[in-house]
Amino acid sequence: MTDAGATKGTRDIGEKLGQIGADVVIFWGSQSGTAERNRLSKEIRQRFGKKALAADASDYESASIGNIPTSNLAVFIVSTFGEGDPSDNLQDLWSWLETAKGTPFSSLKYVALGLGNSNYKYFNAVVDVVASKLNTLGAQCLLPIGKADDAQGQTEEHYLDFKAALFQLFKDKMGFEEHDPVYEPAITLVEDNSLEPIDVYNGEPWSPNKDRKTARIMSPVHSLPIKATRELFDDSKDRNFIHMEVDLSEYPGLKYKTGDHLGIWPENPKPEVERLLRSLGKLSAASSPVSLRSLDEETKLKVPTPTTLEALFGNYLEICAAVPRETIASLVQFAPTSAAKDVLTAISNDKAAYEKLSDSMYLNLGRLLEYTAPGEGAWKDIPLSLVVEALPAMQPRYYSISSSSVVHARQIAITAVVSDKKMQGEAIIPGLCTNHLLGLQRSFLGEPGSMQTTINAHVRKSTFKMPASMAQPIIMVAAGTGVAPFRAFLQERERLSKMGREIGRTILFFGCRNEKQDFLYANELREWASIPEMSLSVITAFSRPDDGEKVYVQDRVKECADEVCDLITDKEASFYICDSAAMARDVSKVVGEQVQQRLGLDEMRLREFMDKQKRIRRWQQDVWG
Ligand code: 2AM
Repeated sequence: MTDAGATKGTRDIGEKLGQIGADVVIFWGSQSGTAERNRLSKEIRQRFGKKALAADASDYESASIGNIPTSNLAVFIVSTFGEGDPSDNLQDLWSWLETAKGTPFSSLKYVALGLGNSNYKYFNAVVDVVASKLNTLGAQCLLPIGKADDAQGQTEEHYLDFKAALFQLFKDKMGFEEHDPVYEPAITLVEDNSLEPIDVYNGEPWSPNKDRKTARIMSPVHSLPIKATRELFDDSKDRNFIHMEVDLSEYPGLKYKTGDHLGIWPENPKPEVERLLRSLGKLSAASSPVSLRSLDEETKLKVPTPTTLEALFGNYLEICAAVPRETIASLVQFAPTSAAKDVLTAISNDKAAYEKLSDSMYLNLGRLLEYTAPGEGAWKDIPLSLVVEALPAMQPRYYSISSSSVVHARQIAITAVVSDKKMQGEAIIPGLCTNHLLGLQRSFLGEPGSMQTTINAHVRKSTFKMPASMAQPIIMVAAGTGVAPFRAFLQERERLSKMGREIGRTILFFGCRNEKQDFLYANELREWASIPEMSLSVITAFSRPDDGEKVYVQDRVKECADEVCDLITDKEASFYICDSAAMARDVSKVVGEQVQQRLGLDEMRLREFMDKQKRIRRWQQDVWG
């Protein structure tokens, strides 16, 4: 269960647990949705028959954590963001812990799991800080701190390891008895043919209600017409680079600023939707209206209603994602044959068997069902509610906008590389959104296929901005499609230079494989570099040149250390990095070393210097992965 309505009731977590008779409280300090939050508490109820409350720490007085009875257990699952920051809903507890004194938590027993990414400098820093503070305040930690690492997509597996240890603890230390879980639906789906097609969601933009803070930074989702699109590298054989422009003119309220992001809501490919419907025996009912309803107060629907199965699986649920082992385990009890049951049991219990299979085949839900029990309708007896509950809600994919709002106020450009993930064996997982964009590009450019030429998207405000004065110098470091926001910056600097504004020194370090393969926007960049008023140098680093050595952007930054350091330390330059977190880490290291040498700083002073640069927004990163 979750604690919907906690804010209306008591703000004392100890009292709350007593009121509802829960033995476990799970504090979620992450940005994940409610479905995610419900998962663990629901499984605890189904496996152990015990109540576990999934709670937002911000809904309770931090001090009241000390009132949690010693026979109960608190589970902290907390993410680390950016510079070692907690999620918004952990902020109150975070600040409170900083100043708390004494041993007010001496009766508290807890376990903790951090969610992080080892490509970032402050890997899982939040869970370490929280745990050490809890210990100082007298709490007792009953398991080693778990640290999930998303760097290699291992969050799910690390979560499962943590969960296994937690369940063992329940049995060994808390006297919980485990039994086979019985599926309890949290939602129902009913076919409702009284509804007219016009009344149902058929793939129209939809996103769950946003909290106020989210609403401030995200526009509503609109269906935006594609205005232009082109392939940036025709002769790139194995990769497609897409430049796409969408039109905002139908939505006067929709605005963006240079440096913002476009969130694109992809669609699942039709063959995958049909595959899933076929296994479930629902091909003929695909377009019938269905209404969904949650069966308890705590479960919020993650999809719109009424809708159709076709739209649910095509637009509103992530059916193309690899199926996690935990979901596979939930299918076992509905396996239509003993052979299917054996396969599912084997891969859900055994990580190595699961990895072997997902390396050899693209293991999305439809394909897994088909593989374990082939044939139309083979899985017709599995509850549709389970399928909907098991699949994550569709998420937008964010792209750094590659146009300037000053130059193109009513048009947004994005730059994307179509990326498929190659597994260790034969399997290839196609990139969902980039392949969707590629399909749209092809139909826009007149190839056979769907005639749809709009994308569902919203603008997300970002803090990745140029200095207010164009006279300030800027240094930009990009690899691959990370050049997108810098194209926008340069477009804007060109426009303003033409209007007679003074433009400060501008350097773009751009890393890609090869001049002929992926030197994106090469012509534009060269042209801008030839305009004296733009004071621009474009410095390339080719990692796979036809001849010569592999060079990365950080090597180039090092070669230009004199000017780079001078601009940073003496000329108030702003430094920007856009692309992978790994590249950003390497570039930061090189710059740090150079600045340290130049200014003769020790480690601590260097950290203070870099922290200040970040605080005054002279060091900005837009990174992922
Ligand atoms: P690669 O040839 O080794 O893949 C865009 O992806 C560019 O960034 C490619 O030239 C790629 O090089 C390069 N790249 C990959 N990892 C990097 C890192 N850690 N630092 C800098 N550039 C990197």
